[in-house]
Amino acid sequence: MDPNSLQRFKTPLDAVNALVSRIIRISKTTSLQNQPCHIAFSGGSTPKLLFQTLAKSYLDEIDWKLIHIFWVDDRCVPPDHPESNFGMTKAHLLDHVPIPGENIHRIMGEADPEVEADRYSKALLSQIPLDENIPRFDLIILGIGDDGHTASIFPNQMTLLEHDSICAVGIHPASGQKRITLTGKTICYGKEVIFLVTGSGKSSVVAEIYNQTELATTYPAAHIKPLLNPAEWLVDTAAARKI
Ligand code: 6PG
Repeated sequence: MDPNSLQRFKTPLDAVNALVSRIIRISKTTSLQNQPCHIAFSGGSTPKLLFQTLAKSYLDEIDWKLIHIFWVDDRCVPPDHPESNFGMTKAHLLDHVPIPGENIHRIMGEADPEVEADRYSKALLSQIPLDENIPRFDLIILGIGDDGHTASIFPNQMTLLEHDSICAVGIHPASGQKRITLTGKTICYGKEVIFLVTGSGKSSVVAEIYNQTELATTYPAAHIKPLLNPAEWLVDTAAARKI
């Protein structure tokens, strides 16, 4: 991580508000070009506050008809399953903002994983402007696990960082749960890639990556080096407490 790419915020809401300002900036830029804004969201629990804040405080600041929402990854479960990233996003964001249904591009967690990885790859190739035949998202929002995973690229599946396909099947090392994930290569083609990291549980991995330690090289998140701009890290005090 480039130390200059990490910004600390007092509270999770401060970090979320900074991320929202970036989302608004990016969506306004694409809107001025009369282009859709292609955003890929991660799942898990961290983005909940982002989604709630977008819906509650920034509803009118974004031209939702120009926003196209994708997922960085999702669990191979039905959309109404409690672990579905789509389901979580729907509950906290999609049901509360006027985004057209055709702008929501979910991963079909209920499908056969290999078939869905291929389908979603093709969907991204057809929906998003390409660079060297790789979809170039306007913004990719990432989280990080306390094991250093990001998206559904886990430490025991580092090959997914350089995997040739657009999407692949990841497997959670503890539960064995299959997931569809963007590969590291696709993530690194993102015009802007931003990590949103909050909570003391992430403080160790953040410190290892910030200090570019030997241990950090075993973390997939440490290997996310976008081609256009360095990844930005928006981190609250708790997650930054060891740096
Ligand atoms: C997922 C996410 C994953 C997440 C990290 C952090 O499907 O779980 O995409 O990469 O960003 O696991 O999760 P928390 O935000 O719950 O800590």
